[in-house]
Order: sequence, then C-alpha cells, then structure tokens
Amino acid sequence: MPVTRIPSVPPSEITPREVWLNRRSLMAGMAGAIAGAAWPGASEAAPVIEPLVAPRNPGFAPKDAATDRKLATSYNNFYEFGTDKADPARYAPGMKVRPWTVEVTGEVAKPRVFGIEELLKFALEERVYRFRCVEAWSMVIPWVGFELNKLAAAVEPTSRAKYVIFTTALKREEMPGVRTPVPVIDWPYVEGLRIDEAMHPLTLLTLGMYGETLPNQNGAPVRLVVPWKYGFKSAKSLVRIEFAENRPTSSWTKAAAHEYGFFSNVNPNVDHPRWSQRRERLLPSIFASRETEMFNGYAEQVAPLYAGMDLKANF
Ligand code: MTE
Repeated sequence: MPVTRIPSVPPSEITPREVWLNRRSLMAGMAGAIAGAAWPGASEAAPVIEPLVAPRNPGFAPKDAATDRKLATSYNNFYEFGTDKADPARYAPGMKVRPWTVEVTGEVAKPRVFGIEELLKFALEERVYRFRCVEAWSMVIPWVGFELNKLAAAVEPTSRAKYVIFTTALKREEMPGVRTPVPVIDWPYVEGLRIDEAMHPLTLLTLGMYGETLPNQNGAPVRLVVPWKYGFKSAKSLVRIEFAENRPTSSWTKAAAHEYGFFSNVNPNVDHPRWSQRRERLLPSIFASRETEMFNGYAEQVAPLYAGMDLKANF
C-alpha cells in the first residue's frame, strides 16, 4: 500500500508520544522492525474494502474540505501495528477482519454478540467530522456509521450502567506491534466513556470512511469515533463493548495518568504536560496555524455534558 509521508515538522511538534515513550518505544520499535523481517505474511492477505455508501447527514459538515483519503489512510496511529505513523498502513492489511464479532455485554438486559454483517444492517449514515489527535494535528473525515446509542437500545442497558468500556482486538499473530519485547501499552487497547458521553448522538460506531468499509489501518471492521475528544478515545477494531457500573482505567491512562486523563476532551486551555494544545496542524499543513476549538468545535452539542465540572482537574 502506498504511503504518504507528511513533510517534516518542527521538533516541538513531532510525535510527542514517541518523545515520551522515549527509550521504551525506541527499543520496542527497533525490536518490531527487526522482528518484522520474520513476519513476511504480515501484509499479504487481501484487505476487505468494499463500497459502503450511506446518505450524508447534512447536519455534520465542517467548513473545511475533507482530508485527502490517501493521507487519512496512511498517516495513522494504531500501535498494535507499530508506533511509526506509516506502520499501520504497512502491517494492518494483514489483519483478518472476517469473520468478526463484537460482544455487547455487562450491565444490559439483553447481552448479545453481533456479527459484523448485523452491524452493517443498522441505519448507516455519513457524517463529516473533524478529528483531532492529542498530538496536535487534525483531519476532516467522512465517516460512515450509526449512533452507538442505537446499539445500546438493542441490548437495553440497566440503571447500573454508568460507563461503557471498549476493548479492541488483540491478535498476536497478525499484529507486530503487540509482540515487542517491551509492550508499548498494556494490551489489549481499552478505552472508556461515561454513559452519557457514549449515548450522545455524536458518538458514532463507525464501519466505513470515504464511501467504503474501513481500511484495516483505520480500525476495520468497526471502530468508535468520538469527535469532541482526542483521537485516542476513538478505539479501533472493537471486539467488546461492556456497560459497567465502575469507571475503567483506559490503556493510555494506565501508561501515563498525568498525561492522559479519562475525559480527554479537546480543550485549548488545558495543555498536555509536554506541549500546548492551543493550536493545531490541519493536515497536510506543516504549520500549527489553527486555533484549537473547545471540544473540537462541538461545544454547542456537548458542553452541557460537563456543566459545573472543573475541566482542568478532569482533563
Ligand atoms: N485504537 C487502537 N486499537 N489502537 C491504537 O493505537 N490509536 C488511537 C485511536 N484508536 C489507537 C486506536 C489514536 S492515538 C488515534 S489519533 C486514532 O486512533 C487514529 O485514528 P486514525 O488512524 O483513523 O486517524
């Protein structure tokens, strides 16, 4: 798969997480690169990408044009395939995404396992969302999916459900990034949302982008998109959705609690400990010329969820 490289950016903006991961990541990355040579099958399987056209919801149309598809599918974070932005496009096509099931369980009256074909039968729509990564770059992407609350309606969460926990696939054979001698994060990748966030109409269970099913590197066959939060909350390649009474600890919080909080709402007033969140680079621009918008521009819809909360303490 062709890889689009982003031109180099000032050191202050380069992949801050890699800086943080420091020797750990470097060692893991090196080990991955070496071991990668021993996994020739990694990108041989044909990825399942099919047309997935859904009516566009005109209510979600940011003023910026959609990011070039090639860029959005070749500059990715999907650490199960490596920490370099080009690794997911290089290695993820080898992941088998059929058959695929998502278990929906926990505090629900009707727990169920959904096959991916069943999820594709929900009323799909296309929404163009701004997508903002914690690393201070952003994209604009036409996603195809449906509101997570519609899936919830099918399983009927109980009154004890206060949080939703998202667990993503862990396929050692197919994911070179999870086989590094020093794990980059505690696999599997786990994320969480408060129930009102998860049930908010903006939270999209996503099966496609750009009128096609998701490429593996973007989280095939099904991922989350939570557009007012930093990108790492949008967990890829979901296998389990659990309604829970207690707040989970997400993988990134486990890795560095002082850097990645539970809420992770896009907020220009709360800097990451190692860099500012005031501005962002709208890719492919190499300049952080954009002012970061509160809740990534979705304040009108989601600010009420946090009324009265100290968003500096609850970052
Ligand atoms: N999901 C899994 N399973 N593993 C990951 O490493 N990375 C997150 C998120 N979901 C990640 C993940 C991060 S940091 C970002 S910015 C987005 O996916 C990137 O999504 P994209 O590649 O579609 O832009």
